[in-house]
Amino acid sequence: MHIVALHNLKGGVGKTAAAVNLAAQAAEAGIPTLLWDLDAQAAATWCLGAQARLAKPPRKLFRRKAPIGREAARTQWDYLDLLPADESLRHLDDLVAKGKDGGRLLHGLLQPFSENYALVVLDCPPSFSRLAEAVVRNADRVLCPLIPAPLSLNAWRQMAGHFDRKRYGRDKLRPFLSMVDRRRSLHRTWAETPPTTLRGCLSTWIPYATDVERMSVRRAPLAAFAPRSPAADAYRRLWTELAEDLDTRP
Ligand SMILES: Nc1ncnc2c1ncn2[C@@H]1O[C@H](COP(=O)(O)OP(=O)(O)OP(=O)(O)O)[C@@H](O)[C@H]1O
Ligand SMILES: [Mg+2]
Repeated sequence: MHIVALHNLKGGVGKTAAAVNLAAQAAEAGIPTLLWDLDAQAAATWCLGAQARLAKPPRKLFRRKAPIGREAARTQWDYLDLLPADESLRHLDDLVAKGKDGGRLLHGLLQPFSENYALVVLDCPPSFSRLAEAVVRNADRVLCPLIPAPLSLNAWRQMAGHFDRKRYGRDKLRPFLSMVDRRRSLHRTWAETPPTTLRGCLSTWIPYATDVERMSVRRAPLAAFAPRSPAADAYRRLWTELAEDLDTRP
């Protein structure tokens, strides 16, 4: 089972849009996929059209007093299941921080899913938290969407530096450009040649597109309602690039 996380300490950069579309692309390729919404905002849960809420409180789930596997539910798309979020997750970080070893705690929660899924996609809240650290330690790849702007690079340096110092596997970080607006010269320049600071940067970039915004109205991945749009095509290519990366590197 591969574990892919969407993470960035910055908010509103396209983590959830990528988590939903990448999970949908993997499912469309016949890969049994679980999208785990770890964000109390529950945007991924919303975008998959789920009414679901967590049946048990996170306190019980994360202390393994109640089986987390039972929270995963089918979506209307084949091979795509969702472990939903709701506002009860807002104290998740405290829960992870209180545990002795957040990484090990999350590992224990993820392990049983390998019986049913070949891929787990984690949609993380925007933060630089203990939860984020636990996620990075467990993920095979950590995808970080970045909007082209100098300040995005500052956040990236901070994040990558932190994971370096903690030895959390800096090499799994995969930045990619998000919300690229080709009318803007900096966006065009970065899309053609990403800054060298973005080590491991994926070559696929996601265009700025109203179709992506429509996901929260249609409550579906792009492939379900705008499969031939440039944005859907970009997520398809992002998935292909990621799948190759997962297969070919340790
Ligand atoms: N490529 C895009 N083009 C246009 N709008 C986008 C694009 N990607 C995301 N958006 C919009 O930008 C907003 C933020 O996107 P999204 O929720 O995916 O970001 P996020 O990083 O998950 O945010 P948060 O940090 O709050 O979890 C949403 O309204 C979404 O519809
Ligand atoms: Mg989000």
